[in-house]
Amino acid sequence: MNDQQLLAAPSGRHNRYLRALARMPVDTTPVWIMRQAGRYLPEYRATRAQAGSFMTLCQTPELATEVTMQPLRRYELDAAILFSDILTIPDALGLGLHFVEGEGPRFESPLRSVADIDRLGRIDPEQQLRYVMDAVRMIRRELNGLVPLIGFSGSPWTLACYMLGGRSDSGFTEARQLAWNEPEAMHRLLALLAQIVVDYLAAQRAAGAQSLMIFDTWGGTLPYADYREYSLRYLAQIVDGLQAIDDPAPITLFSKGAQAHLSAMADTGCQALGLDWTASLKSARALVGDRVALQGNLDPAALRANPEALRNMVALTLADYGPGPGHVFNLGHGITPDIDPAQMKVVVDSVHRFGQQTNLLA
Ligand code: CP3
Repeated sequence: MNDQQLLAAPSGRHNRYLRALARMPVDTTPVWIMRQAGRYLPEYRATRAQAGSFMTLCQTPELATEVTMQPLRRYELDAAILFSDILTIPDALGLGLHFVEGEGPRFESPLRSVADIDRLGRIDPEQQLRYVMDAVRMIRRELNGLVPLIGFSGSPWTLACYMLGGRSDSGFTEARQLAWNEPEAMHRLLALLAQIVVDYLAAQRAAGAQSLMIFDTWGGTLPYADYREYSLRYLAQIVDGLQAIDDPAPITLFSKGAQAHLSAMADTGCQALGLDWTASLKSARALVGDRVALQGNLDPAALRANPEALRNMVALTLADYGPGPGHVFNLGHGITPDIDPAQMKVVVDSVHRFGQQTNLLA
């Protein structure tokens, strides 16, 4: 079945995520969770230990497929997300990615000068990032139509934040410094990254990804005007580039902390916006109208509440969106390693149970 036929089929687990992105009626609200394959799952920790490192997990398609499937075996999730990382692009550009235990990502050779930026060039995703494409193909085979597969990339701004040697605890001041001191070099870097992201996501689409998500985790740290100039402008270029390919896939943009920009983000022509937990689905919906679907936005910390309180917060999130199609349930950011896996089941099952009513009211 191709994705058009899948969309046209009656709503069920195999297609309700794609139908919600297209704002078509669904039997219940679809749900997937950012970082659903991750350290809160003991089976993930075991596979990672067996692999030896996070990068080996990403670079071995059999292992990436295994960890992608793990949360789907436990929970009735409505989408799978490719197991990989946004930092595969800078790694393929030669920056040398590694993860320091408890500290997060580091590059051996971060960008230190304008000359470093001007040495970068485009990559062929089927060559330098072939392991990602192989994982996409293998996961699609393994899923065998159970649920759609989400491919993803980081946004140019968020990738630049990491590539310029910044750390999240420094507020990525290196990237802002370059934007202010060498705006032309910054724009050259972001324009190159936008082309690379288009090539990368187009290759994931060709390999079998059925929806594409762009994580702009650090866009919301920018001042208002700078967000438009350094982040949104390149998100719009990516949406244009990906809509021009054969058989385009729906695109979800997620700029964390960028509530002030939702309407402008919808203007890019993307199909959905991800909201963090500080936003109101109701206000966002009033703002974007029927232009895009909305994804989100339960507070990730709500998974520490007792099951009854958690179910209540799920119900409130569904009620905040209100009746009618176009809602994809998710957290407002990734699930954290401290969460009890039983709590995920509470979320997924209550979304489906309460979501049936919200969608009947439509
Ligand atoms: O969502 C999924 O289950 C798919 C896999 C996925 C990972 N990273 C796996 C991962 C996805 C979609 C990402 C995206 C990602 N990576 C983002 C954007 C989304 C967001 O969370 O804002 C960012 C900013 C990164 C960069 C990154 N990767 C950081 C900052 C870290 C270290 C901090 C952390 O959360 O551990 C990673 C490592 C990482 N990526 C892990 C996983 C499962 C943990 C690695 C481990 O096993 O130790």
